[in-house]
Amino acid sequence: PAAKTALTERIKALLHAQDAVLVAHYYTDGDLQALAEDTGGCVADSLEMARFGAASRARTLVVCGVRFMGETAKILNPEKRVLMPDLRATCSLDEGCPADAFGAFCDAHPDHRVVVYANTSAEVKARADWVVTSSIALAVVAHLKAQGEKILWAPDRHLGHYVERMTGAQMLIWDGACVVHEEFKAFALERVRKLHPTAAVLVHPEAPDDVVDQADVVGSTTQLIKAVAELPNPEFIVATDTGIFWKMQQVAPGKRLIPAPTIGVGATCESCAHCPWMAMNALQNLEAVLRRGDQEIQVDPAVAARAMIPIRRMLDFAQ
Ligand code: 13P
Ligand code: SF4
Repeated sequence: PAAKTALTERIKALLHAQDAVLVAHYYTDGDLQALAEDTGGCVADSLEMARFGAASRARTLVVCGVRFMGETAKILNPEKRVLMPDLRATCSLDEGCPADAFGAFCDAHPDHRVVVYANTSAEVKARADWVVTSSIALAVVAHLKAQGEKILWAPDRHLGHYVERMTGAQMLIWDGACVVHEEFKAFALERVRKLHPTAAVLVHPEAPDDVVDQADVVGSTTQLIKAVAELPNPEFIVATDTGIFWKMQQVAPGKRLIPAPTIGVGATCESCAHCPWMAMNALQNLEAVLRRGDQEIQVDPAVAARAMIPIRRMLDFAQ
């Protein structure tokens, strides 16, 4: 504990000296989330991270999360320095949607509006009409459907199916998935629900359809945290990355949080859902990047200018 306190104190001093703020996602290590809150940064879902970065006056944003979050911060703030603890922190959705193949898919369907999830590269966003996060995907697609638009959706097929079911829109859907959420097992969840009859089931919409079908609440990370704080249930079965438990426990200390099963009932937490790329963010490499100034996000300015259009559209729509 003493070494950790000394480390966080050094990081605080570096943040202050460099006019830097932390912009952290709920799936990152609890120590990082606590430090972000302590130092005037933010802990948020991907939409709020983008908003916070755009509104911040700090000269440097240190994005603790995965690469697409750093890129979005840079696109919205080209004049700022955007650092990440480890630039190798990617996302399976981003990796599964290469820009050239995606461009060919769009070219083959020129009459469709292109809606891409925030979990994509800057190049893919540059091909999009709209960027959405899980917290506003339903509202944006419902809006496009009301205008009679045909929609092409990428890259998460589970979120795409959920959006189709909820809005009644029919979309062309790219075949991507989150390797973390795809592991939740519907048959095992049914058994855990029987063991905990008073629990509410909270599911992120990147989970498979038969898991989403069992949810009491489906939503973005922020929406699931809100549910834990507001619903009267004493227990919650949570089908998303277990990094979120830090904030859930903070907002609802008396509630019991049960990780949704990924391999079966009785699994230990070693097999719980946790994103390997979110796990690349830690206090140690945060200190290192602040000292060295490496691990800086760069986005080609022409790509950034094009990608900024659908990202701004999302932020304006969400207001
Ligand atoms: P949120 O926008 O809900 O925070 O989700 C981001 C993400 O990567 C989920 O896996
Ligand atoms: Fe990507 Fe899934 Fe990790 Fe979120 S949890 S960053 S969607 S791989």
